[in-house]
Amino acid sequence: MKNYVSASVLSADMLELKNEIKKLEKSRIDMLHFDVMDGIFVDNITFGLPVLKQVRAATDMTLDVHLMITDPMKYIDSFADFGADIISFHIESESDTAAVIDRIHERGLKAAVALRPATPVESVFKYLSDVDMILVMTVEPGFGGQSFIPETLDKVRAVRNKITELGLDVNVQVDGGINADTAAAVRAAGANVLVSGSYLFAAADMAAAADSLREDR
Ligand code: DX5
Ligand code: ZN
Repeated sequence: MKNYVSASVLSADMLELKNEIKKLEKSRIDMLHFDVMDGIFVDNITFGLPVLKQVRAATDMTLDVHLMITDPMKYIDSFADFGADIISFHIESESDTAAVIDRIHERGLKAAVALRPATPVESVFKYLSDVDMILVMTVEPGFGGQSFIPETLDKVRAVRNKITELGLDVNVQVDGGINADTAAAVRAAGANVLVSGSYLFAAADMAAAADSLREDR
């Protein structure tokens, strides 16, 4: 299974965003992770559509949009129009999960269902044959720079086993507290798309840091 690194620009220097994106490209980062928070679903507010539009104009990178918002259905068309390639939304949100997956696919994008650390992993099993990716949050969503929650490893393992058992081709993404130390454990548990913000942006050599997430050193 191929491993991918998705860089969370929540940890980027916003006034230098164009240069930060160039740095991601030069460091051969696979995807750009764009965290959208509405201040209601989570206790933080980040950035939204106008910023995504400018990011889209600045790069051909795969834009991996993580919606931490109360009513994702209302905004799928807008995020599609503004250049998202992958949209992750939370199963705990107020929208109908199956309907949101369908709408994302109707717009020609890849769909992922995300779950908070406290949400049982079995809740996503019935959607596995319909999605491209499952996002297992490895910290409580809301802020970058938090510590990895080790108990989430069991959820990664359980969802990967279920995907294998069903013979499906679904990516498993992890997000929160991913660094060189935690990456090996999440990969061993079955994750293959690793989101990383603070670790990558703090690294002196971003390309080497990304490599340390993809493969054993
Ligand atoms: C948290 C966000 C994450 C976060 C990851 O709610 O969804 O994407 O930016 O940041 P680090 O890698 O610093 O934990
Ligand atoms: Zn995220």
